[in-house]
Amino acid sequence: MQNNIFSGLFVGQNLVTIKQIDSTNTFLKNLLSNSKPVPEGTVIMAEEQYAGRGQQQNGWHAEPGKNLTFSLLLNPSFLPVNQQFDLVRVVSLGVHNALKQHLGSLLKIKWPNDVYYADKKLGGILIENIVQGSTIKHAVVGIGINVNQDVFPAHVPNPASVKQILQRDYDLRLLLSEICSHIEAAYLRLKAGNVTEIREEYLAALYWLNEEREYKSNNSVFTGNITGVKENGLLVVNSDNRELMFDLKQIEFLNKTI
Ligand code: BTN
Repeated sequence: MQNNIFSGLFVGQNLVTIKQIDSTNTFLKNLLSNSKPVPEGTVIMAEEQYAGRGQQQNGWHAEPGKNLTFSLLLNPSFLPVNQQFDLVRVVSLGVHNALKQHLGSLLKIKWPNDVYYADKKLGGILIENIVQGSTIKHAVVGIGINVNQDVFPAHVPNPASVKQILQRDYDLRLLLSEICSHIEAAYLRLKAGNVTEIREEYLAALYWLNEEREYKSNNSVFTGNITGVKENGLLVVNSDNRELMFDLKQIEFLNKTI
């Protein structure tokens, strides 16, 4: 299906909209294993996901018809598996740059790939890589953005929507096309070898970068400053003049406002 509001070269040029599905990531992964070749940049967008999946085995809640829930296919075979975090950077930056045009400088990327506005979560990203040998054959990039939802169930931690911030509805397809073109632009820069630039921009967009904040790890609370992210994606926090490194499951950001 062609859609001319998509201005990029390939991301979103093949857009499939589905009324109801368990998870767009699962759907796209099944498509890759079951059918004829799927063009790179294909976007599967669902009006409703009844079993949306999030990071760390969590679910993903989104009120039907009001939010963006979609998955897009990238084939980053140029990227060695040990550099897969660069894809996390590219996708996070793409989403961040698209939304920042509307929401301004309070928009941040919460490491590793949550989209935050002030201290609230506006969206999340779930990338599932299909690896062949030492390269990534396919990346199924799942993105959920809270767009026009007014009220969230109590079990959703710390949510915000674009509508709650801007006080008006936003056109879902238009926002989808903007996100797709920003992801494509960042992806093509990575593919062209501008990895240093991508890493610097990702770091500059990080929530709590260089701020003295509280974290929890191994059941102990400590104060530290995020100073960097390693090539492989580990978060670097400086605490008491020591450089500590964390994987996703090893550190919790302690927001006093929650
Ligand atoms: C997170 O936990 O922050 C990641 C959320 C990712 C949700 C999106 S919605 C579209 C795609 N399909 C899924 O099942 N999950 C991702």
